[in-house]
Amino acid sequence: MTGEPTRPPRAPGGAAAGGPGLFVTFEGGDGAGKTTQAAQLEQWLREQGREVVRTREPGGTEVGVLVRDIVLHHRGHVAPRAEALLYAADRAHHVETVVRPSIARGDVVIQDRYLDSSVAYQGAGRVLDADDVRSLSLWATGGLLPDVTVLLDLDPAVARARLDADDKPFDRLEAEKAEFHERVRAGFLALAASEPDRFLVLDAALPADQLAGRIREVVASRLA
Ligand code: TYD
Repeated sequence: MTGEPTRPPRAPGGAAAGGPGLFVTFEGGDGAGKTTQAAQLEQWLREQGREVVRTREPGGTEVGVLVRDIVLHHRGHVAPRAEALLYAADRAHHVETVVRPSIARGDVVIQDRYLDSSVAYQGAGRVLDADDVRSLSLWATGGLLPDVTVLLDLDPAVARARLDADDKPFDRLEAEKAEFHERVRAGFLALAASEPDRFLVLDAALPADQLAGRIREVVASRLA
């Protein structure tokens, strides 16, 4: 795992001489272990000498932090269309100011959650049409899709037990009922089935090291 960093010299203009960047997203229900896996992948890529940008939605920019506070912590009702637009607004700003410039520089962007979260969560409320939510995000981002999306799939009951053990206050979505989280899970699995080339679906109940190994293999093959 260790060894001399193999980072190629940066070409004039800032592009990595090693080739174009890569956009990797982590998706899954709350408590599936996305943050742990994103951190492990980041560490491994840095050991390989890659430049890595670790980021997340909502809240990957200063503007995004403000939006995150509304969507996750506002007490009381937020109209579903307004909520979908807020996530899309966060995403539009994040993609234009952080994600696209990083990929253009040749970096690997590792991101917690992206448009699949909008489709699965905002679609799971049963009020909004999943295709509309996806189209909104694609409009917001100028059509940017990840190169690889890791879906950490987990039974919501197991995920809930993990979150309970964490002893952190629940945000608005984590506080939703079990049935909502079942719909989110089904939404993610349907998305993965419709784009098998982009998605890597993993059983998040497996040991973390095993998951990390599988993720490394797939990312390494995309970088090769
Ligand atoms: P996350 O940052 O994963 O939560 P935490 O900091 O607790 O790990 O995500 C916050 C919540 O936002 C999560 O419950 C899912 C929700 N979400 C949406 O509903 N739509 C979206 O488009 C995104 C990106 C997140």
